[in-house]
Amino acid sequence: MVEATGHVGMLIVASGVLHEGDITPEKSLKAIDPAALAQLFAVNAVGPALVAKHFMGLLPLSGRSTFAAISARVGSIEDNRLGGWYGYRASKAALNQLIRTFAIELKRSRPEAVALALHPGTVATELSKPFRSHGAAGTFSPSEAASDLLAVIGKASADQSGQLLAWDGSRIPF
Ligand SMILES: NC(=O)c1ccc[n+]([C@@H]2O[C@H](COP(=O)([O-])OP(=O)(O)OC[C@H]3O[C@@H](n4cnc5c(N)ncnc54)[C@H](OP(=O)(O)O)[C@@H]3O)[C@@H](O)[C@H]2O)c1
Repeated sequence: MVEATGHVGMLIVASGVLHEGDITPEKSLKAIDPAALAQLFAVNAVGPALVAKHFMGLLPLSGRSTFAAISARVGSIEDNRLGGWYGYRASKAALNQLIRTFAIELKRSRPEAVALALHPGTVATELSKPFRSHGAAGTFSPSEAASDLLAVIGKASADQSGQLLAWDGSRIPF
């Protein structure tokens, strides 16, 4: 159906899971559960990879196009100082690697295309609700986060393809 409308200039994958049902972020290794890990990887890493797989052919061969997936700063291995949240961190790290690998492949056929992993900051959604204090400073509304991320996507250049960028455009190390 999308194919019939022509090329896709911008695609944003905003799905993700941190907690659902019996799944809660692990505080220690003892809490690791294989089914929960598999679910986090399925939603946070495999899902966006499949979207990339099926939509890559619809990105134009020439001219700028963007593919972005919402990742998270906690997926940065270098930035991991607090520990915990094994499954969420690892599945977002996997997403970052998938995006990086996708960006390299994308460049071969679509040199002006940009593939990004994005960190939206802390956003007042159901996902973050159990882990933020009410009205905490530095928490964005969903519309603020969307506007920030659209600005980052709009400004990103082809040589930034494959990077993990934060809501303010700064690069987060993998
Ligand atoms: N909120 C934050 O502070 C924060 C911080 C860093 C990164 N992020 C990332 O930002 C992205 C958006 O999260 P959010 O804060 O907007 O959380 P949210 O309100 O809980 O939204 C999560 C989204 O993921 C979809 N989803 C969940 N499980 C799914 C599944 N099994 N299959 C398909 N779709 C599924 C949901 O679809 P339904 O509505 O249909 O359930 C919903 O659209 C996520 O990737 C999250 O990791 C959020």
